Amino acid sequence: MEGNDWNTGCAPDSASADRSLQTSVVQSRYPPATNARMKAYRIATIPGDGIGKEVVPAGREVLEALATTSSTFSFEFENFDWGGDYFRKHGAMMPADGLAAIRDRDAILFGSAGDPHIPDHVTLWGLRLKICQGFDQYANVRPTRILPGIEAPLKRCGPGDLDWVIVRENSEGEYAGVGGRVHQGHPIEAATDVSIMTRAGVERIMRFAFRLAQSRPRKLLTVITKSNAQRHAMVMWDEIALQIAKEFPDVTWDKELVDASTARMINRPASLDTIVATNLHADILSDLAAALAGSLGIAPTGNIDPERRFPSMFEPIHGSAFDIMGKGVANPIGTFWSVVLLLEHLGELDAAKRVMGAIEQATANPALHTRDLGGNATTAEVTKAVCELLGPSARRKAA
Ligand code: IPM
Ligand code: MG
Repeated sequence: MEGNDWNTGCAPDSASADRSLQTSVVQSRYPPATNARMKAYRIATIPGDGIGKEVVPAGREVLEALATTSSTFSFEFENFDWGGDYFRKHGAMMPADGLAAIRDRDAILFGSAGDPHIPDHVTLWGLRLKICQGFDQYANVRPTRILPGIEAPLKRCGPGDLDWVIVRENSEGEYAGVGGRVHQGHPIEAATDVSIMTRAGVERIMRFAFRLAQSRPRKLLTVITKSNAQRHAMVMWDEIALQIAKEFPDVTWDKELVDASTARMINRPASLDTIVATNLHADILSDLAAALAGSLGIAPTGNIDPERRFPSMFEPIHGSAFDIMGKGVANPIGTFWSVVLLLEHLGELDAAKRVMGAIEQATANPALHTRDLGGNATTAEVTKAVCELLGPSARRKAA
């Protein structure tokens, strides 16, 4: 496949030009919320597997605690028991018409997909990627910063020095799912996974990332690439970055090779702010980012359809964590921060700020640190504390 074949004929993605996403680290640029009266948001919860079954109910509790203090919104939850157990009963991770069942929700709160007895590619493609790709949630947003009270591993890095948002291309690239396997078990066996990049796909994620960078105080974007080695798709990626940059003259941007960016994240964390990368590059960098911020247990994600044709999906990035599942010790903070992203996506910015504030108060208290943070707190204790920090009594105290 020659790069040029993909280089022509696609109009810029202008449909998304006026809409934007903000995360807990970004100023709001949403259209004003129209919910002058009580609005009931319809949320699909999909705990999935492993500790997803523990942290998603905790996230729901937090949303419910929040709703008790609001006279403008409430939540209607419906739970979907899709995942490994469903697979054992029905031979699929979710029903064939599953997407249609959640299509009209305002948002999805997801736990994780992964089961010790089912191959990872089956659980992933049968549930999480089916939803991400089925709903064209092409922008995966991963804010990372060092929360109060969290001990992060970098010696020379204070909390203000690490404040990033990683934008992960979420619909194509190395996760396109294109490839095949032949002659299985024979010496001549061959297998391919083909990374597909389209002009439309790259333009829309670049535009999204530049807009997000523009909405943050530093207006700074780093475009991660590997165009020295990958001479077709990544060269197109670079060219499109240069093209989209012209639409955002107030954004300062640079380009960094993915391997070099790992060293930069460690040695010069403050030189980064918003970061955009391909599906696989950002997958890897975001785990590094989460570890540098103190724990994978804290890190949130939004799988966003910026055009709002479909519901967006919010999840902690930690995965199923079989080693601790069922013990009640999972860190629910990654889910709570994902709830913050969910609320921002709904346009409930004050509510999002309140939840973020409660999270920060919780992390600042070492007695509320779970095992991944070196503490002994349980999922239930952290959840109760965050709910109390949000509840009517907390409101009264603040007033
Ligand atoms: C993530 C995860 C997933 C991914 C796994 C669970 C397949 O690592 O959300 O980063 O690679 O996308
Ligand atoms: Mg990952």
